[in-house]
Amino acid sequence: MKAVLPAAGFGTRFLPLAKAIPKEMLPLGDKPVIHYVVAEAVAAGFDDILIILSRGKEAIPTYFTPNPDLERHLEQIGKTRELAALRELSRLGRIHYTYQPAMRGLGDAVRQAKEFVGNDPVFAVLLADTVMHGGSPLPAMLAAWRQHAQPSVALEPCPAEKVSRYGVAGGRQLEPDVFALAQLVEKPKPEVAPRLLDAAGATLPYHAFAARYLFTPEIFDCLDTTAAGYGGEVQVTDAMEQLRTRRGFLGVRWPGRRLDIGHPAGLIEAARLLGEA
Ligand code: G1P
Repeated sequence: MKAVLPAAGFGTRFLPLAKAIPKEMLPLGDKPVIHYVVAEAVAAGFDDILIILSRGKEAIPTYFTPNPDLERHLEQIGKTRELAALRELSRLGRIHYTYQPAMRGLGDAVRQAKEFVGNDPVFAVLLADTVMHGGSPLPAMLAAWRQHAQPSVALEPCPAEKVSRYGVAGGRQLEPDVFALAQLVEKPKPEVAPRLLDAAGATLPYHAFAARYLFTPEIFDCLDTTAAGYGGEVQVTDAMEQLRTRRGFLGVRWPGRRLDIGHPAGLIEAARLLGEA
């Protein structure tokens, strides 16, 4: 199966550092953040991967492209542990790259994957600046796809004062952790943000989109007719709302946590939690 990892963008929340170093290449232990995201995709069965780059992100392909000279050198000097780590890296699925020509938003970045995805029935999108702690939501999203044949987004609870930073879901519980969505809104004000209801109709806390998506290729038709939205950018959330009206859309809760490393405090928190794991 195929996965798309948007890793374009200026990294404004991590400036000035992100001017020279892609935020996706910042270290968590001895590996860059994007390594964990690729490994998560591959572990869930998405081993054909397209990374969407922008200018200045060349360190990402450099990291994943095999370096036979370095491998030979490590072999000669007997650094077997390091050699094994490099060889493991080249077994991390097939990785392809494309560029988003201009920074027009996440929806526009995903649109760059249209030819790569082709007619596959379903594909995953993983935001490359976010690692998941306590397991990936992708297996549960795939199970929901098999059960309902609908696309989905991972959901996590979100305090009211933060809903205007995220995509927010409204809808009704179908299964303990699966919701039939009725509204998908990008960065709403808390007073108009949608809510999830449990199976008995009781209102649940706000739930935000958590950086993992399972789409059908119809999302590309929806993106083609999505005008610029929040922040003057093409929002993938607006295309998801269109897709919902065409074939339904699920929200999937999972027991883990989204760790956004796109800003300094998030990276420090992720390093602390992974150190404890
Ligand atoms: C993006 C999405 C948003 C989602 C968030 C976290 O926002 O547009 O819907 O909730 O990622 O996964 P951004 O962080 O790019 O502003």
